[in-house]
Amino acid sequence: MANENENAQETARKKIILSGIQPTGTFTLGNYLGAVRNWRQIQNEYQCYYFIADLHSMTIHIDPAKRRQQTREAFALLLACGIDTEKSLVFVQSHVHAHAEMGWIMDCCSQFGELSRMTQFKDKSAKHPDNINAGLFTYPSLMAGDILLYQADYVPVGADQTQHLEFTRDIATRFNHTYGETFRLPEGYFPKAGARVMSLQDPTSKMSKSDTNPKATIYILDDEETILRKFKSAVTDSEAEVVYREGKDGVNNLMTIYSAITGESLDDIARDFAGKGYGDFKEAVGHAVADELQPIRDHYAELMNDRQYLEAQMRDGAERASRIANKTLNKAKKKVGLLLPQ
Ligand code: TYM
Repeated sequence: MANENENAQETARKKIILSGIQPTGTFTLGNYLGAVRNWRQIQNEYQCYYFIADLHSMTIHIDPAKRRQQTREAFALLLACGIDTEKSLVFVQSHVHAHAEMGWIMDCCSQFGELSRMTQFKDKSAKHPDNINAGLFTYPSLMAGDILLYQADYVPVGADQTQHLEFTRDIATRFNHTYGETFRLPEGYFPKAGARVMSLQDPTSKMSKSDTNPKATIYILDDEETILRKFKSAVTDSEAEVVYREGKDGVNNLMTIYSAITGESLDDIARDFAGKGYGDFKEAVGHAVADELQPIRDHYAELMNDRQYLEAQMRDGAERASRIANKTLNKAKKKVGLLLPQ
């Protein structure tokens, strides 16, 4: 009987979604299409927790005043993108102490070998050989802690984070096996459209905030003129045929973006633009993106003018998140034999 009740409760329970984004600059179109837009769309269906991963951003050296400002901006951007604090729990990672503590517990469950194999660690240490800090190495353990603290069912991320999610499942499985059932195993939740938006200048690498070529990345606060200009100079090929095909990385990327925004299938797009040149297509993509982002820019400007409101939202998010996270943290601490203060 108890089991039946538990099963019924489990079925009725709203599934938990958790995800984070680093405050290292204005979100890119990749962040938006690969993650944040999707976060907005699932708010009614799931119990959603979204946070600004400021602890993760510390693997890169940023001027402290700039980091503070970027954290505020990122928080405002989430709300501007339509994340609703009445529906979802939105908070700044470092405001919830449990993340750092759980990160340490996860560190002690992570093996040197598996962390060494992480693609992101290898990429980032190759790009920044002057600052291969321990945080960069144990980044996936902190991320595992973020996810497990909230007993998340699903983690919506772009394709670039798949490996970290697998790692989280590995650690959770190992911990549960060693200490007894503690963490729920999270699954990835990948939006079909926009899971991987590529650079406009090198469509074989992902669109990234840290790209040094300003034409490579669309930022969600770019104005219409800038967006049109960047799409106009996007790298394509010499075929002048709008069709999704292997080897046409630039065009494939533009079609993916256009499809993610308009909802049109790749076949329909190819049909609509048959016989037209890349110029027309790039302009259409530029307009579609600019129209999608315009309301976000407007809302963002309003929010940044109301610092008190933003701070109140951050405080409220931190309190609510701490209550949830502390429960799991205490459970994990007991399991590993840390003495809780009485
Ligand atoms: P971050 O800040 O690099 O990126 C935030 C989200 O945007 C997605 N993304 C993309 N999607 C498609 N195309 C792209 N070009 C693109 N670039 C970025 C990312 O996949 C991500 O979903 N480690 C995370 C932050 C984090 C986190 C977590 C996420 C920390 N703890 C716990 C989920 C759960 C990161 O650096 O995301």
